[in-house]
Amino acid sequence: MNIPAKGRAPDDILTELRGKSAGDTKWREGRVFSLVYHAGEQHEQLLQKAHALYASANLLNPMAFGSLKQMEREIVEMAGDLFHGPSSVVGTVTSGGTESILCAVAAYRDRARRRKPWILRPELVVPTTIHPAFDKAAHYFGVKLVKVPVGPDFRADVRAMAKAISWKTIGLVGSAPQYAHGVVDPIAELGALAQKKGLPLHVDACVGGFLLPWLEQIGRPVPVWDFRVAGVTSISADLHKFAYAGKGASVLAWRSLDDMRHQIFVATDFPGGIYASPTMIGTRPGGPIAAAWATLQSFGADGYRELAGKAADAADRMRAGIAKIPGLTLLGKSDSTIVSYAALGADVYALADRMEARGWTVDRQQRPASIHLTVTANHAAIVDDYLADLRAALAEVKADPSLAKSGTAPMYGMAAKMPVRRLVAANVRKVIANMYAPGGQP
Ligand SMILES: Cc1ncc(COP(=O)(O)O)c(C=O)c1O
Repeated sequence: MNIPAKGRAPDDILTELRGKSAGDTKWREGRVFSLVYHAGEQHEQLLQKAHALYASANLLNPMAFGSLKQMEREIVEMAGDLFHGPSSVVGTVTSGGTESILCAVAAYRDRARRRKPWILRPELVVPTTIHPAFDKAAHYFGVKLVKVPVGPDFRADVRAMAKAISWKTIGLVGSAPQYAHGVVDPIAELGALAQKKGLPLHVDACVGGFLLPWLEQIGRPVPVWDFRVAGVTSISADLHKFAYAGKGASVLAWRSLDDMRHQIFVATDFPGGIYASPTMIGTRPGGPIAAAWATLQSFGADGYRELAGKAADAADRMRAGIAKIPGLTLLGKSDSTIVSYAALGADVYALADRMEARGWTVDRQQRPASIHLTVTANHAAIVDDYLADLRAALAEVKADPSLAKSGTAPMYGMAAKMPVRRLVAANVRKVIANMYAPGGQP
């Protein structure tokens, strides 16, 4: 495609754009889990309008865009209060969970460089269920992840993590909750361990940050995971997940400015001037920050408690329905609205294919092979349809075991089991590269 020789009329372009998404996953109808957090059409309109007001604004220069800096400060204050932080909590709004995690890992590395300069190959001790954003951060910043197997309940094994700590350790990480099974790691114990060893502890609450506090407030059991745990140094929490903000918004909160200091990058000899930036990206789009601020104002604590209750009830119904289907088994005792299940005596990846044929976008997991659902308030309306389709899909797979050898099932099955992970990576890289090849198809 070339840039059109003559510009087109806005109406014409917008009509084309609206038509373009027709083949995409039906997120407004709740047909996808984990990629989109939708809170209804009225809220979507607020997001669009708030985003549009700041679509061209740039927080790269907080002096020029004081209003955006103020919104960022207020978002961090609201998050700090929600996470039971002291008044010293500070932080930044980033473009998403991955950026919050990249910033945290880079800051932990630089904090260690300052305090323990003899550590040349820094290590972070993490559970195996940690999100791949940490692998990415470790890869980018020359940090080694010491991955410690989780217990049979999928929670971090604190004793094993304690054993994995060495003189090269620069910090610990736990999740609240971890993505795959929705369980919260034992943050109180990890905090005590971190304090004992004089290490910082990051809590990845990208999923739970704006869900667990509301669940706790409506009386659901939630293990303590936030700044109430004295050893917690920093928390990543995504606004674009359970805060139902527009895409491109997360918070990285630090217990104190002293902890956050290492997140700030400064370049002093650029001919274009002194350059300072607290996050990974340079230009910082104003739209997602304004939309996130507007979202927190719009729902308020009451609205969030209602959304969390709706999501939790939907997850309960989903779990109860899955538990009743012979041949399916729930994994872990989720502390959140994440549901994951495996199949016994049937190929779960063939089941995933049959669900996709019925119009669902399916998140396939491995170790063990399973299907993941991040249940949101928007899924309250589809639980019965999902369960009906799941029963029918499983019956199909059981009746025809050859389905495990067709569609995408063998590919997922092989990728999950192949012992040489480097080969899996090479194959996946090839698939992605082909998507980006000239004329490549998604
Ligand atoms: C626990 C956890 N951490 C981090 C992330 C990364 O967030 P993002 O996709 O917004 O970069 C995710 C995303 O699902 C997650 O589930």
